[in-house]
Amino acid sequence: TKVTDATPIKTLPDAQTVLDVEHYTDRLFRFRVTRPPTLRFRSGEFVMIGLMGDPDPKTGRQKPLLRAYSIASPSWDDELEFYSIKVQDGPLTSKLQHIKKGDEIILRPKPVGTLVHDALLPGKRLWFFSTGTGFAPFASLLRDPQTYEDYDQVIVTHTCREAAELTYSKNLIQHLHEDEMMQELLGDGLKKLVYYPTTTREDSPKMGRITDLLENGTLFKDLGIDGISAETDRAMVCGSMGLNLDIKRILEGHGLREGANSEPAEYVVEKAFVG
Ligand code: A2P
Repeated sequence: TKVTDATPIKTLPDAQTVLDVEHYTDRLFRFRVTRPPTLRFRSGEFVMIGLMGDPDPKTGRQKPLLRAYSIASPSWDDELEFYSIKVQDGPLTSKLQHIKKGDEIILRPKPVGTLVHDALLPGKRLWFFSTGTGFAPFASLLRDPQTYEDYDQVIVTHTCREAAELTYSKNLIQHLHEDEMMQELLGDGLKKLVYYPTTTREDSPKMGRITDLLENGTLFKDLGIDGISAETDRAMVCGSMGLNLDIKRILEGHGLREGANSEPAEYVVEKAFVG
């Protein structure tokens, strides 16, 4: 059949509409999409999202190109937010970076993941360790009141190569500190939520890999904390494979054990997916 202007555009399977896009650097952006009314998820989980791939040169058929993305918005939000890298020759992100308000993306509504409160045993202090786009699941958890109801203190570290790559987390923390509802949850002087950004390849107020700052005691000194213990501390980790393995080793050195949905313990890890 001949396609004419009158042919209605076929919407994508599991289509959601893009509501807003914000670019931070030539390598990072965030976007918001409509939330399927039936989608339930726990803050910190991820879903598969994507776009239609290029037509197969032989058959002309198009297949969905999907990748795992942490949902960066909290479970109470009626929109969904995602934080993404842009890779110029990345199969998905080379296209995804061009989405605009009103466009459609594919979203498979099956949330899963280990960075959830249910996978941790009760504790007093909660650490979020992230690098790069690994901050995304914490953008969800940091906006979930349960995070502050369950713990006395929440410390979020974000390490990036350059200062501009911290914009997303910096804006989000500032927004939380200014939010009236949050001020009640965060308590006197907003001391309950501590943000510890670091850079590794550009000057900033705090430089260095978080792993080094942990091992040489700088982090504890800066925060006025004695150390990490299996009795009081819980942690969630999301970053590059190298970061995940190094933090795992450090946490286990302090006696923490890795937990899962089926068997909660003292820390959980997930790799930052795309890029
Ligand atoms: P570095 O610049 O020293 O490699 P990337 O962009 O490669 O994913 O890295 C994001 C951030 O994570 C960078 O600041 C990088 O530091 C840091 N990083 C990479 N690997 C590790 C690791 N094994 N432990 C701690 N930080 C890491």
